[in-house]
Amino acid sequence: MVLVSVSSSKGGSGKSTTSINLGVALAQLGKDVTVIDANLSTPNLSMYLGAPNLPITLHHVLKGEAHIHEATYQHASGAKIIPASISMRNFENINLADLQYHLPHIKSEFIILDGAAGIDAEAQAPIQMSDQVLIVASPELPSVADALKTVRIAQHPGKHVRGAVLTRAGHHLDLKIKNVETILEHPVIGVVPEDHHIKAALVKREPVVHVFPQSPSAIAYKQLASYFAGHGELFVNEEIPKLYKAMRWMIGLR
Ligand SMILES: Nc1ncnc2c1ncn2[C@@H]1O[C@H](COP(=O)(O)OP(=O)(O)OP(=O)(O)O)[C@@H](O)[C@H]1O
Ligand SMILES: [Mg+2]
Repeated sequence: MVLVSVSSSKGGSGKSTTSINLGVALAQLGKDVTVIDANLSTPNLSMYLGAPNLPITLHHVLKGEAHIHEATYQHASGAKIIPASISMRNFENINLADLQYHLPHIKSEFIILDGAAGIDAEAQAPIQMSDQVLIVASPELPSVADALKTVRIAQHPGKHVRGAVLTRAGHHLDLKIKNVETILEHPVIGVVPEDHHIKAALVKREPVVHVFPQSPSAIAYKQLASYFAGHGELFVNEEIPKLYKAMRWMIGLR
């Protein structure tokens, strides 16, 4: 079993998008995978998947009102999802760290924890209870600098930082992959381009790998999943920024 937290102290860096799409792409490869919304204060998974009013959520599990299996829902791809409640009322008197006592009941090959932004206890809890940490950042200095804090937090209890996924990539002014690797002292294992299909998928309340499987971001997430599943070589598409540069040159933007 691989228990991985998808983390970054930077808000809005693409953690939830990466958690869902990595999870669904692993399910498409035939893997048994559970994605958990380990972001109790600002949960997103249920909204991203079009089911905001689920009767039983992780909050109920942490309050001792339900078994974790009762809060597990299956997506059409086969991926299992454990959402958190979007209601403020359910946020009281629960501790995300208690999730560790429920995780042994999950028999999936991969468990993905979608973490909260920041560096407080809520953001650190998924890192503490996971075996591996996947760092998410956009290829800009503030985002990578924030991601470095997450690397440091993960290294303190000696967690295995699996690598970084760069999201919303492809701008000619992006940080170079090599520079990101130098700053984070870990390899970049995925590069997901800026892709309008992500928003289009959001409107459909579906993961992009499920509804637009041939889109650039879906292909990047499927490559990441192959790597995680041990099927594929590490494939980081360094050509994307160059391709964008070439396109901009061809259409006369620079
Ligand atoms: N590759 C991409 N191309 C275009 N838009 C993207 C891409 N990845 C993520 N986004 C958009 O960026 C926004 C933030 O993404 P997401 O919710 O996954 O970030 P997050 O790190 O989970 O945020 P939070 O810190 O609030 O939990 C969303 O609107 C999402 O649709
Ligand atoms: Mg999120």
